[in-house]
Amino acid sequence: MNILITGGAGFIGFNLVQQMLKTKNRVFVVDSMITGSSENYKKYLKDPNYKFYQIAIESAEFLKTFSKINIDRIYNLACPTGPPNIKIYGEEIINACTTGMQNTLKLAKLKKAKYVYTSSAEIYGKPLYFPQAENDLGLVDPQGWRANYEEGKRIGETILAMYVDKYDVNALTVRFFNTYGPGMSLSDTRVVPRFIKQALLGEEITIQGDGTQSRALCYVDDSVKGLILAMEKGKKREIYNIGGKTEITVNNLANLIIKMTKSKSKIKYIYRPNHDSDRRLPNTAKIESLGWKQTIDLKEGLKRMIENFRERIYKQKSN
Ligand SMILES: NC(=O)c1ccc[n+]([C@@H]2O[C@H](COP(=O)([O-])OP(=O)(O)OC[C@H]3O[C@@H](n4cnc5c(N)ncnc54)[C@H](O)[C@@H]3O)[C@@H](O)[C@H]2O)c1
Repeated sequence: MNILITGGAGFIGFNLVQQMLKTKNRVFVVDSMITGSSENYKKYLKDPNYKFYQIAIESAEFLKTFSKINIDRIYNLACPTGPPNIKIYGEEIINACTTGMQNTLKLAKLKKAKYVYTSSAEIYGKPLYFPQAENDLGLVDPQGWRANYEEGKRIGETILAMYVDKYDVNALTVRFFNTYGPGMSLSDTRVVPRFIKQALLGEEITIQGDGTQSRALCYVDDSVKGLILAMEKGKKREIYNIGGKTEITVNNLANLIIKMTKSKSKIKYIYRPNHDSDRRLPNTAKIESLGWKQTIDLKEGLKRMIENFRERIYKQKSN
């Protein structure tokens, strides 16, 4: 099959590329490299089943390039993500979630390709219920500092639903909750990569607020399995949550990472921006009904990620 992965030089996209190349697929990666890693996109450049295009999905060049190529599946992951990027790349997030979304769906329509959009738990905003099921509506401040991302992902979902209803495009949505694992950028400031890097470098572990807020984390291999399952078995216009089921407070996560890395780092409490949710917990019954289950527990996932970060930090220091 010919698979198009947008955002394939990013964290989850790259892990998906690796899975797709294990079977007999031709993988086309589109990435603007706004937050992507050159380490990721360069890894398979010599593989005849891999082709990389540095293009933004909202550009006219995107449709022009792919109108000539057969495409069976489109995974649309292209979007800057992570809290600091919400401020830095607000406009680019909105472009990816609007014009970019329309371009990728136009391509799906033209190629009769099946399409999966990677939305986010952030669309639940301040959740009203725990765990959050796909039909929970959440609360989002349309002008809050996270709105570019939260509302961006929401309008992306609306555009997808419109393309299904109006043009019968075979498209569906997954909503990822916090995903972590090897391949995350060393400069990513989300809790897991930040704490691991700080612990390995012996720096202070910076916790925003009092650390009682909790996260339910999912190892990237499980997230990617869910994504592929949604593509192959998911139904048109449906939404599937994909995320970890075990909650951990940010304080306990920091202490666990300190223990696992045998670090001497101390914890420092810093300012916590508003609109950061106290708790996120997915109801994953729907994706489980397709055969998904979480297989990597937090300790095993952290062990793998710590090894990966240790190696990369060492390599970076010795270069
Ligand atoms: N990682 C998570 O925990 C998480 C949670 C919820 C949702 N998601 C969603 O999953 C997707 C992948 O997330 P990730 O963590 O791998 O992020 P990432 O930032 O590592 O990867 C995103 C990739 O998309 C590329 N990109 C951004 N805008 C683009 C554009 N307009 N055109 C082409 N390429 C573009 C970036 O350069 C980057 O390589 C994103 O859409 C994100 O919103 C991720």
